[in-house]
Amino acid sequence: MAALHEKKTCSQRMENFRHFLWNEETGQLMGRTLINWVWISLYYVAFYVVMTGLFSLAIYSLMRTLNPYAPDYQDRLKSPGVTLRPDVYGEGGIEIYYNASDKESWKKYVATLNNFLKAYNTSAQQANINCTSDKYFFQKSFHCPNHTKCACKFTTDMLENCSGRDDSNFGFPEGKPCLIIKMNRIINFLPGNGTAPRVSCTALHDDFRPLDLQYYPVNGTFNLHYFPYYGKKAQPTYSNPLVAVQFLNITRNTEVSIVCRVIGAGITSDNPHDPYEGKVEFKLRIQD
Ligand SMILES: *[C@@H]1O[C@H](CO)[C@@H](O)[C@H](O)[C@H]1NC(C)=O
Ligand SMILES: *[C@@H]1O[C@H](CO)[C@@H](O)[C@H](O)[C@H]1NC(C)=O
Ligand SMILES: *[C@@H]1O[C@H](CO)[C@@H](O)[C@H](O)[C@H]1NC(C)=O
Ligand SMILES: *[C@@H]1O[C@H](CO)[C@@H](O)[C@H](O)[C@H]1NC(C)=O
Ligand SMILES: *[C@@H]1O[C@H](CO)[C@@H](O)[C@H](O)[C@H]1NC(C)=O
Ligand SMILES: *[C@@H]1O[C@H](CO)[C@@H](O)[C@H](O)[C@H]1NC(C)=O
Ligand SMILES: *[C@@H]1O[C@H](CO)[C@@H](O)[C@H](O)[C@H]1NC(C)=O
Ligand SMILES: *[C@@H]1O[C@H](CO)[C@@H](O)[C@H](O)[C@H]1NC(C)=O
Repeated sequence: MAALHEKKTCSQRMENFRHFLWNEETGQLMGRTLINWVWISLYYVAFYVVMTGLFSLAIYSLMRTLNPYAPDYQDRLKSPGVTLRPDVYGEGGIEIYYNASDKESWKKYVATLNNFLKAYNTSAQQANINCTSDKYFFQKSFHCPNHTKCACKFTTDMLENCSGRDDSNFGFPEGKPCLIIKMNRIINFLPGNGTAPRVSCTALHDDFRPLDLQYYPVNGTFNLHYFPYYGKKAQPTYSNPLVAVQFLNITRNTEVSIVCRVIGAGITSDNPHDPYEGKVEFKLRIQD
């Protein structure tokens, strides 16, 4: 106890401190011999090398399990959603109501279609390749430019009379409107089990009475060579194939409820929780 309370002069303290920094008698630097310091440094260097190694290994193995070509979390979505263009939502879902003799009433539909089809004009599809196989287009390697997988061209001319080329009004003023059906993409999805899925449109009421219509491309099929889709990073220029439907004889001044389904193995359209799964319903009314 006495030692603790012992008063020291300032110079004594300085002397003690200097002694602590460098003790000539024992050759100790800050309380340790040089060789002791070397060992301690080596120990810490080795310790941090091992820690860094373990940390890097953990990060590396985590990154290995993440596939950059697929989203980390994918919905357990089995069947694709289906959408319609033009997509004008009214009180009762999609409503395409217009007056054939009033340009103001259908102009917006034509504008929507023109705008939507811009992504399918020849210049927009330039990066994609011509496909003719009519089979699933499986690609293991990334042989397209910029380390990507190729995507097949889908150009507006494949929609023939609904391409907007010969008839820039898509049949609206004649009361024979063209509407476009698109199936949403699902990574690695193979629709149809080897048979091209096709669109089939019927009138919802009147016991699914067959409508007078024309599909483009013929038979209303989504060619198999547009599948599977490998994801945005692998196929940055991929564009969904389309099917156009031209309604040739819609009864005038009457609202017609129509459902367009995509028919094919693996595509269901009877999910009560998702009305847009595998099908799209809409109302069409043409006045004059
Ligand atoms: C359709 O438009 C024409 C010309 O604007 C007009 O005469 C006719 O009454 C309209 N029809 C209906 C049902 O509104
Ligand atoms: C194709 O669409 C782009 C916009 O996506 C447009 O700039 C271009 O002029 C269009 N080309 C043709 C030939 O219509
Ligand atoms: C793809 O097809 C179009 C028309 O069918 C043709 O003009 C073009 O040269 C073809 N491109 C290639 C790379 O074969
Ligand atoms: C490859 O990527 C570069 C830079 O992102 C881009 O400028 C170029 O157009 C791409 N080439 C092709 C063929 O897509
Ligand atoms: C496309 O339109 C033209 C001119 O209206 C018509 O003669 C032809 O039959 C149409 N094509 C089909 C497949 O309906
Ligand atoms: C797919 O088609 C093959 C024959 O082409 C058949 O054996 C198989 O059961 C089918 N699979 C499904 C899920 O329908
Ligand atoms: C359209 O379907 C019919 C009957 O299923 C078939 O004979 C014809 O080859 C198909 N056309 C095309 C272009 O796939
Ligand atoms: C169009 O449908 C009406 C009945 O809704 C029918 O009487 C008429 O013959 C049809 N016209 C054509 C060209 O099919």
